[in-house]
This record gives sequence, C-alpha cells and structure tokens, in this order.
Amino acid sequence: MATTSKQYPQTVKAVQYTGTGGPEVIKLNEVSFPEAKPDEVLIRVEWAGVNFIDTYFRQGIYQLPAVPWTAGQDSAGIVEKLPTDPNVLNDPEYKARKYEVGQKVACIAGTAYAEYITRPWTKVMPIPASIDTRTAAAASLQGLTAITFVEEAYNAQSGDYVLVHAAAGGLGLILCQILKSRGAHVIGSVSTDEKAALAKENGAEFVINYKNEDLIKRVGEITNGQGVHGIYDGVGKTTWEGNFEMIRRKGTIVSIGNASGVVPPFSPLKLGPKNLKLVRPVVGNYLETAAEVTHYYTELWQAIQSGALKIHVYKEYPFTAEGVGAAQTDQASGKTTGKLLIKVANQ
Ligand SMILES: NC(=O)c1ccc[n+]([C@@H]2O[C@H](COP(=O)([O-])OP(=O)(O)OC[C@H]3O[C@@H](n4cnc5c(N)ncnc54)[C@H](OP(=O)(O)O)[C@@H]3O)[C@@H](O)[C@H]2O)c1
Repeated sequence: MATTSKQYPQTVKAVQYTGTGGPEVIKLNEVSFPEAKPDEVLIRVEWAGVNFIDTYFRQGIYQLPAVPWTAGQDSAGIVEKLPTDPNVLNDPEYKARKYEVGQKVACIAGTAYAEYITRPWTKVMPIPASIDTRTAAAASLQGLTAITFVEEAYNAQSGDYVLVHAAAGGLGLILCQILKSRGAHVIGSVSTDEKAALAKENGAEFVINYKNEDLIKRVGEITNGQGVHGIYDGVGKTTWEGNFEMIRRKGTIVSIGNASGVVPPFSPLKLGPKNLKLVRPVVGNYLETAAEVTHYYTELWQAIQSGALKIHVYKEYPFTAEGVGAAQTDQASGKTTGKLLIKVANQ
C-alpha cells in the first residue's frame, strides 16, 4: 500500500536542458515535486546512467519534447509510492512483480536526472536483492539494448561471425559478452590497444584496432573472405560504407546509433548485391508491454546474477550541471569504456 504520511518537499533538483547546444545548456534547476498518476510509481532516484542519446538530444540530433527538459534515460532507486488505480492493482503482471514501498527498482523510461521521478508501473522493474542500484542503473539501458537486439534485431547463432563496432563502449562490452555466451565468433573493432584488451577480456575472440590496422582487410582474413554474418553498429556515419564490404551475402546489419554522426540517406537498392537485411531498432520499442519489460529485465538480472554478464563502470559523476556536462563531454570524446553514471543521491 502507498504511504500517505511521509512529507515530501515541494520542489526537487533536476538536471535539465534549457535549449540545444553545448554543455552550457545544461542547468541544475528546481522543479515541482512530481505527482504520480494512478498508474505510476514514485521513485527516489539513487543512480542514473549516461548514454549517447543524451548528447543527441542536447545537440538537437533528436528533438527535445519540450524546453526545459529533464535529461537522462536509465535510473535506479527506491519505491516511494505505488499505483492506486484498481485496474493496475488487479493486473496479473503487476501482481507478479510483487512491488513494495522501500524496494529497489530500475527503469529506462527517460527524464532520469531528478531526485524523484514518476513512471508508469509497466516500465519499472524490481531489482533482485543481490544486485545493487548502482549496478542496476549501469546495466539497464545498454543491457536491455544488447539483449533485445541480439534476440530480435539479429538473432546471432552459435558459430556466426559477428562484428561489434565500439566493442569497448558501454553497449559494446555487453554485446561482446552476450554474443560470446551464444557461441558466436565476436570480432570487436576499437580505437586503442587498451580498449582492445578490455574487449578481449569481455568475450571478443578477435579485436581490431582500426587506428593502426585495416579493418576491412582483417575482417576478410578472419572470415576466409566470406565476411561476417552480422554487424552491430553504434558508430554510424564513419563505419556505414565499410559495413557493406565486411558483411557476407544474406547477412544482417543492425544500425544502432550515431556516435560519429548520422548515417547518410541511401537507396534500398544498396541491399541488393548481397541480399542483405538492415535493421534500425530502438530499444524502447522492444519494451512496450509489461510482459516484454518483465521478460527482458528478468533475462538481464539472471545474466548478472549468474556471473555471465559483468557490468563495467568507467566513472561516477556528480549530480550537477557540471557533472553531467563533463560526463557527456567525456563520452562524446570517444575515450571512455563501459558505463558512465550520475550519482543522484547518497545512499
Ligand atoms: N538504438 C537504440 O535503442 C540504442 C540504445 C543504446 C545505445 N545506442 C547507441 O549505441 C551506441 C553506443 O552507445 P554507448 O552509450 O554504449 O556509447 P559508447 O560505446 O560508450 O561510446 C561510443 C563509442 O563509439 C566510438 N566512436 C567512433 N567514432 C566516434 C566519434 N566520432 N565520436 C565518439 N565516439 C566514437 C568510440 O569507440 P572507439 O573509440 O573504440 O571507436 C566510443 O567509445 C551509440 O551510438 C548509442 O546511441 C542505441
């Protein structure tokens, strides 16, 4: 049952975009305390993730829904209030999640950089006792992206040769581990020898430092001139053309993001010479229903609990405009590895 006696402040701190542009548009503002709708959970946020999409929104590559807009995507914290809508309370999926006030939860539903947030219950998943909120926040968006994209966008099979661009990044390290656990031959592409070592430790069978090796030539050598069965590409503009040389006939290219810039317009005829499949998924669209969220979060928690999936945190940043700006600048520099986190509250 929701508690009613607890006193909450009238305002909370939120890190917001006050427009599009450089890190100077990021501000720490006071905003109204969020009022939970009858189907929503009120969460006290402890940790929030840093993701490339935050930079796309800030730069205007993706349009902000409004200005000012609270930044951030994935988060983890503590349940303060539960839904009150009787339809929700009677929903079998809701009951199965066994929510309680005071419980640890994670979600990926955006506007995470605030002390308190509200979310539709369908997007809020209890965290098992053995996983802390820091790990849950670090795992959520990239972990669910990797799991859904490997199952639904390109269902990599044991024995497949698979190229992962930015293999030592937040998403890349998780993709390498999941693909390896499926028995795929993972080829990771990275920009430094340190990143190469990390990708290898996390499941890449082959790593190619594209700064000092010819990526296309090496992929050809590794695959006996056949090319790879699948490519997961979060880099975008700079890797786009090369993908068509490295993919084999009937292969699948999963275009995931725009770290180096947006993929240029192209004709579908480009897919014809090798009868290719091209997928451009967005993780949230694999996580629409409560059942989908439960299914994929359960897989993510099980992978972490079993030790099959290790979550690497690069650095924690403070919950300030400067902290968020520094995190986004560091990530956009291309020098980071693993996940960057914002510490929203002291536990
Ligand atoms: N579609 C979706 O739903 C979804 C969900 C999650 C993430 N994504 C996308 O997946 C990609 C990876 O996300 P992430 O958060 O895990 O980021 P990340 O991997 O931590 O960082 C991006 C990496 O891209 C590489 N890169 C190559 N050229 C770059 C350039 N010009 N500028 C910056 N980086 C460059 C860098 O690795 P190297 O130096 O090794 O090349 C860099 O570390 C992003 O494009 C993100 O938008 C999409």
